[in-house]
This record gives sequence, structure tokens and C-alpha cells, in this order.
Amino acid sequence: MPALATPPACLDRIPAGPEIDLPAVSFFGRSLAEYIRFFDLDLPALKGRDVLDVAAGPASFTAEACARKINAVAVDPRYGEARDALAEQVRTDYAAMFAQMRAKPRLFRLKAFPSLAAAETDRRGAAERFLADYEAHYIHNRYVGGSLPLLPFFDGTFDLVLCAHLLFVYAKRFDFDWHLAACRELARVSAGEVRIHPLCGPDGKPYPGLARLRRELRETGIASEVRTIDYEFFAGTNTLLVLRKEAA
Ligand SMILES: C[S@@+](CC[C@H](N)C(=O)[O-])C[C@H]1O[C@@H](n2cnc3c(N)ncnc32)[C@H](O)[C@@H]1O
Repeated sequence: MPALATPPACLDRIPAGPEIDLPAVSFFGRSLAEYIRFFDLDLPALKGRDVLDVAAGPASFTAEACARKINAVAVDPRYGEARDALAEQVRTDYAAMFAQMRAKPRLFRLKAFPSLAAAETDRRGAAERFLADYEAHYIHNRYVGGSLPLLPFFDGTFDLVLCAHLLFVYAKRFDFDWHLAACRELARVSAGEVRIHPLCGPDGKPYPGLARLRRELRETGIASEVRTIDYEFFAGTNTLLVLRKEAA
């Protein structure tokens, strides 16, 4: 497989601002090690369990989890496209994202990495693992095309449902009703818990609709809990939302 390109130097000249600029949802992903930190996962307990990663992008969680005998499936609207098209999107989106990170270091806490360079190496490695696994296992239904708020799975299919870096981060793009419908859909396909991370926008400020969201979920039988986690990457990403359907 060809090595992923490094960002063009011109993208380093981005003016500093108060938040990460996210004009579109990035095709950007993280490794199993990072997922363990921000989802507070007990990996040995997941062996043999069915786990769904929603909005998985080029994260290597599913590839690495399957290698550890976890029955992981990933879903993303881009799945179904050719591996080379996804590799090209990785090249473009990683260049833009890392250029912004280098231009706005004050936005980062880096609890999980010694430096931004280390984070970049880890995440580029994740994308390479994803691309290799996608090529090998797309035909085995390990990677499924689909979008929130309507997922192509039966009720209660998975023991655990994960969703990172889509809800709340793109609150300028997705309104409150979309977030509520997305949370209900994540809970529908789970027989156990849903874990969502982070709970802030690209400015590091908490999602302003969170209290109302939790109240409206509760009214339809979905309990929620906000947990503090031993992780922070950009400032404000030190929490996790856990959803669980209440017994009827
Ligand atoms: C920033 S990536 C997150 C990848 C991974 N979850 C992680 O945290 O490393 C966001 C992903 O959401 C996907 N996406 C965009 N709209 C979506 C939708 N409506 N439902 C599910 N996924 C969506 C994008 O294709 C992209 O791969």
C-alpha cells in the first residue's frame, strides 16, 4: 500500500482562531488505543461481544477490535466507495486537519499524546490500518454504508454502540432535532449501552442543548449519564455520554 502523503506546507499558514474550523464533516479517524481512552472501554470484557462503531470514518477501531476477537462492525456514509477514493479523502482531510492543529496549539490539552506530532503519527497509522482492513473485509460486511439518523440494523443488534466525533462537534451543521433523532437511533440498535464522545463543539464549549436532550431522551425511556474520562485532546473533550434504554 502506498504511504499516506504528508500535508502540503502551504496549509501551515492558517490564521489562529478560537476554534477548529470544520466546514464539512472530516473523514478523519483514530486508533483502538485512543478509542479505549475516550470511550472508557474494558477491552477484555468485549471479547465475543457485538460492537458497532457509528460514523467510524477511517478509524482503525473495528480492524483492531476484530483482530482481538471482538465482533466489531463499522458504519459510515462513505463506505461502499472504492478504497482509493477513501485514501484520497484521508490524504486531503488529514492534511487540512493537522495543518489547523499546528496553527492553533492553544486549543489542545494532549492528555493522550506527548505531542501533536505523536498524535499525527498515531492517527495516520490508524488510517493506514483502516484502509488495509477495508480492502480485505468490506465484502464480509465488516464495513457498512449508512447514516444517522437511520441506521441499517435491526433493533437491539449490538451489545455496545459507539459514536465519536460526529454528534455535538458539528452542531453548526446538525440541529437539535437531528441530535435527538440520532441518539434515539443509536439506542434503538443497541441491546446495552451507547457511548458518545465528545460532548463539546469545536470551540471546546459544552453542547448547549445537552440538558434538554437528556430530558427529552428520558421522556422516551432512555436514561443518560455524563462521565468524566481520563482523556483530553482538544480542550473540553474530557467527558463521555452514556445512554441506556430503561426497562419497560
Ligand atoms: C471525524 S470522523 C470520526 C471518525 C471516528 N468516529 C473517530 O472518532 O475517529 C466523522 C465521520 O462521520 C461520518 N458522517 C458524516 N455524516 C454522518 C451521518 N449523518 N451519520 C453517520 N456518519 C456520518 C463522516 O463520513 C466521517 O467519516
